[in-house]
Amino acid sequence: MAVDLLLGLQWGDEGKGKIVDVLTENYDIIARFQGGPNAGHTLEFDGIKHVLHTIPSGIFHKNAVNVVGNGVVIDPVIFKKELDALKKFKLDVKSKLFISRKAHLILPTHRLLDAASEASKGKAKIGSTLKGIGPTYMDKTGRNGMRVGDLELSDWKEKYRSLANKHEAMINFYDVDIQYDLAELEADFFKAVEELKTLTFIDSEEYLYQAQKAGKKILAEGAQGSLLDIDFGTYPFVTSSNTTAAGACTGLGVAPNQIGEVKGIFKAYTTRVGSGPFPTELFDEDGETMGRVGNEFGATTGRPRRCGWLDLVALKYAVRVNGVTELMMMKGDVLSGFEKLKVCTAYNYKGEQIEHFPYNIEAENVTPVYSEMDGWKEDLTKMTSADQLPKALNAYIEFLEKELEVPIKIVSVGPDRTQTILR
Ligand code: GDP
Ligand code: IMO
Ligand code: MG
Repeated sequence: MAVDLLLGLQWGDEGKGKIVDVLTENYDIIARFQGGPNAGHTLEFDGIKHVLHTIPSGIFHKNAVNVVGNGVVIDPVIFKKELDALKKFKLDVKSKLFISRKAHLILPTHRLLDAASEASKGKAKIGSTLKGIGPTYMDKTGRNGMRVGDLELSDWKEKYRSLANKHEAMINFYDVDIQYDLAELEADFFKAVEELKTLTFIDSEEYLYQAQKAGKKILAEGAQGSLLDIDFGTYPFVTSSNTTAAGACTGLGVAPNQIGEVKGIFKAYTTRVGSGPFPTELFDEDGETMGRVGNEFGATTGRPRRCGWLDLVALKYAVRVNGVTELMMMKGDVLSGFEKLKVCTAYNYKGEQIEHFPYNIEAENVTPVYSEMDGWKEDLTKMTSADQLPKALNAYIEFLEKELEVPIKIVSVGPDRTQTILR
């Protein structure tokens, strides 16, 4: 049985949590493969909104096992908070949530290092979520990190101490004013580690291999989006993992020839939270309307998301890098009421018109070239089938399908599980 992927194609927050939740009824296993609590995945059903950061978005379904893969970085303190928030739903988390021994741990000092690094950058800061993601992946690739499997060894606290001491020296090196009480942070961390240890740690690549062999259906859940990928994103304003399809192979131990469908998800417009270039960003009333109607505030940090028109140059790039086989368009309902819609189909790049995503998309190099399309007035949020969708929305969708050369299989018309239209 092949492993399917679900990936964000923009700068994150495309609606991955909602769609994974919707798709879980068709899968036996949902596996997160990268990122950590920088992610905020929102799902809504039965009038309740849930935000998950590390736990895969299949957790609310009885049928599915959820795996946190080796490519993920885990902060035990945030993980504990997520578990606590789930307690009242009586989900039997212990029998359906497994954690890779090879996943790396975010220590309290990783978070402090993230803050120190950002403070030292001043205006050039990345706009990190300050969850310690960069420093933890740095320790992973620097071969200094602590892994979940280490917690099963008797000397893990010594390993912790020596790494935390090194981090303290590094924090001092930054020479910035960061206030913290490490003893207090450590007390929380050690308590949370004990809770983490009550869950089942597995060799997840072996678990997934056996599951595949037994015919189980597996969906890999991405975090962030392709334009935040450490290699293909808008570096250095990116996260520290491979958010693209290849990240699922390294983040779960699934071989490339075992990948089935690559489901790519995008918003009908574009958002970005944090710093970095964004060619189609709007600073006018249209952008303000998208933010207000779309309720565009970060699920992890609460920061307002920057909003702009759909960028097809960037989206085509993401479709190609990932090998997307089917698309899902989210938040079309937010565009209801716009007289005209714009879609960026090319960039004016250093005086030349280009249609590929270049090395550098800073505003001084790139001006978007737009195609204009008619908008629609109808409220989409109560629509339940494709034949109800307004003509202008169908024209928008068909235009995108032609440009992207991939079918749009799902149109999402609201945050709830039920507000999902299949095409
Ligand atoms: P993720 O990080 O990709 O899982 O996305 P987030 O949860 O961070 O952000 C997506 C936001 O849009 C959440 O608040 C969702 O509840 C909401 N959402 C998802 N799909 C739709 C949709 O089709 N319409 C509207 N209006 N909201 C949606
Ligand atoms: P989900 O999974 C949107 C952004 C941050 C910052 C940059 C680096 O919910 O789509 P980091 O904390 O990783 O060092 O931050 O990446 N970022 C996200 N933006 N959605 C996310 O996740 C993000 N995770 C990180 O805002 O610009
Ligand atoms: Mg999010």
